[in-house]
Amino acid sequence: MLDDMFDYLERIRERPVWRPIPSQVRESFREPLPRDPSDLSTVHEIFMKRVLPYTVGNTHPGFMGWVHGAGTPVGMLAEMVSAGMNANLGGRDQIPVEVERQMVQWVRELFDFPETASGLFVTGTSMGNLISVLVARTAALGTRVRRKGIAAGPERLVAYASAGAHGCIAQAMDLCGLGTDALRVIPVDAQHRIDLAALRTAIAADRSAGFMPFFIAGTAGTVDIGAIDDLSAIADIAQTEGLWFHVDGAYGALAMLAPDIAPRLEGIQRADSIAFDFHKWGQVPYDAGFVLIRDGGLHLDTFASPARYLERETRGLAAGSPWPCDLGPDLSRGFRALKTWFTIKVYGTERLGQAISKTCALAQYMKGCIDSRPELELLAPVSLNIVCFRYRGDDADRLNKEIVIALQESGSAAPSTTVIEGRVAIRAAIVNHRTDMDDIDTLLREVVTIGQANTGVTQQRRSL
Ligand SMILES: Cc1ncc(COP(=O)(O)O)c(C=O)c1O
Repeated sequence: MLDDMFDYLERIRERPVWRPIPSQVRESFREPLPRDPSDLSTVHEIFMKRVLPYTVGNTHPGFMGWVHGAGTPVGMLAEMVSAGMNANLGGRDQIPVEVERQMVQWVRELFDFPETASGLFVTGTSMGNLISVLVARTAALGTRVRRKGIAAGPERLVAYASAGAHGCIAQAMDLCGLGTDALRVIPVDAQHRIDLAALRTAIAADRSAGFMPFFIAGTAGTVDIGAIDDLSAIADIAQTEGLWFHVDGAYGALAMLAPDIAPRLEGIQRADSIAFDFHKWGQVPYDAGFVLIRDGGLHLDTFASPARYLERETRGLAAGSPWPCDLGPDLSRGFRALKTWFTIKVYGTERLGQAISKTCALAQYMKGCIDSRPELELLAPVSLNIVCFRYRGDDADRLNKEIVIALQESGSAAPSTTVIEGRVAIRAAIVNHRTDMDDIDTLLREVVTIGQANTGVTQQRRSL
């Protein structure tokens, strides 16, 4: 099985990025619960034939859809040993928890946070953002909110994020009982960054209407185009207004590892909380999200729940409090820290940073190619590693959606789509450390070929 996976990664370019799933393969996963055992080799064969060929394709250098990391062989091996250990990182006195604490210390160092800051591995930034909103809620209302709920108080908490913010911030407001209407969506400027004047105006308007502003989320690398909010300016506003300053750095925060990009994240060091993913630009296999909270005490106060069956001791297995389960909603937790620790130890932060810089340089290369081709137009500034563009033509929204689907089905490249100022864009997010200039050339060449074929068909239809 291990050999097969090495072959799979080594020969990745020989396969299509993605391929449609044949109906009989899909149907084969509708079988009833098996009562009898099967040989491991038989099950492995099924895996090789019916699972492995039909993944999303994010290990492939031609994959540029959404924001997916590529993983590494080191991460894969770390996952294997971690599964062999079968460690539960909820707590208890064990070195796996110390590995996670080591990671917390490295993350503090990366963002220049104090020793008193706390951190936790989570599934992804969606969960990291939710945890941050919950800790900020405790900061605003005190720990009584945990017993009484938000309905008990007269306060009407409101939060702020830009129109470019990821949907999981609104979802976090929903999940923590404040409701999505309590998230004020602030317009963006020409660079797709939060409009600071509009933010100040919204806070003032809310205060005079009797609301209680408590939370501002800045984004380091927006999901659509990779814009970075002016984090220093948001930090100033949050400080003046006495609000919690959160950074959603899902993929962008790790640009701290890239010396050429890190200065653009200036101000992130002043955040009260940062959520980000090692599984995106950090190339750690899924999943490896992380949340860092400046005030570790408040973090603990938001989640710690004493229980007789989780009693702590100063010696024995139940020593080492506080435990990771005191910092989030999960009690059973896998060893996400190990694959992240292995990745950082083996590759080193310099090399990981170089991979990040390379993806941004490729995005600039792609922008240059688009600018030089009359059939193509750029739809948004290229700030980091995301390029939004489209093929010019009549009925361009339909045409570009069709181009993306045809491209995915061809197996040559896999971008995704988004909508920029009402216009459908082909969106290429270059996250994969394996992606190279050739992959960008292939993507653009195919877009033009499919675009021409489609507009040809449209013209033919018109003349009929
Ligand atoms: C800016 C931003 N925030 C949050 C998320 C959600 O992260 P996750 O998928 O790890 O939950 C993403 C995902 O791409 C993102 O780009």
